[in-house]
Amino acid sequence: MPTVLITGASRGLGLEFVRQYAADGWRVFAGVRSVQRAAELQQLATQADGRVTLHALDVEDHASIDALAREISAEAIDVLINSAGTMGAGSFALQGRAFGKFGNSDFADWERVHRINVIGPMKMAEAFVSHVARSSQKKIITLTSILGSVGKNSIGGLYAYRASKAAVNAVMRSMAIDLAAAHGIAATALHPGWVRTDMGGPRADIDAVTSVSGMRRVIDELTPENAGRFWMYDGSKLPW
Ligand SMILES: NC(=O)c1ccc[n+]([C@@H]2O[C@H](COP(=O)([O-])OP(=O)(O)OC[C@H]3O[C@@H](n4cnc5c(N)ncnc54)[C@H](OP(=O)(O)O)[C@@H]3O)[C@@H](O)[C@H]2O)c1
Repeated sequence: MPTVLITGASRGLGLEFVRQYAADGWRVFAGVRSVQRAAELQQLATQADGRVTLHALDVEDHASIDALAREISAEAIDVLINSAGTMGAGSFALQGRAFGKFGNSDFADWERVHRINVIGPMKMAEAFVSHVARSSQKKIITLTSILGSVGKNSIGGLYAYRASKAAVNAVMRSMAIDLAAAHGIAATALHPGWVRTDMGGPRADIDAVTSVSGMRRVIDELTPENAGRFWMYDGSKLPW
């Protein structure tokens, strides 16, 4: 039975990944900041014959990451999915273009966005690389954003979030090179599309089912040879 470890599994795309992999018979380790507050996920777990387990995992808290790595040290993880992410204080979904404008940047918030979106996936990969390396599929995926594409940025704004996703793209590119050579692991950045979640808001292009179904196809077809790209959920590639 293949295994997947997912961060940010309480809601949005992380929760949909849990739903789809569980429905396909995978063993799912679901990482959430608060097990108590993850009611929908708990409900899902009760219907999955013990194949979905919930684990306290705050990607800003490296001790919680190390603790989970130790707790499941005997497990092989076929696919690690870094879905946890934030746009920072405020709401892009509600504020639109007014969100993340030049002037009066909140740099404490910048730091938090980078701790979650950039350092989080890096720390997760370092903590779980041996679990992934001993699996049969050997894949590490980080959800990035088209807003991190320098080439696609024609409207400006959204400084902290754009910077964090461009940075994590660089992280995933290096990881793809290093981990393919060392362990045969395929690592990549993957853009989910603009999706109707709390983050994407109700006006987004697609629903979570469409996004995650597409991303799972990209993940299925990922190899060390085609990894380290800026993949999009529909199988196309974006410019860095
Ligand atoms: N939705 C889109 O249109 C879109 C577009 C491009 C990229 N993305 C990327 O896709 C990923 C998932 O987005 P989404 O739409 O599912 O967002 P979402 O609905 O806002 O959910 C965010 C998830 O991240 C978790 N999270 C936040 N901070 C965390 C931390 N410190 N430790 C662990 N978990 C944390 C949240 O947990 P809590 O419930 O505890 O807050 C929640 O599960 C993100 O990386 C995002 O940047 C999304």
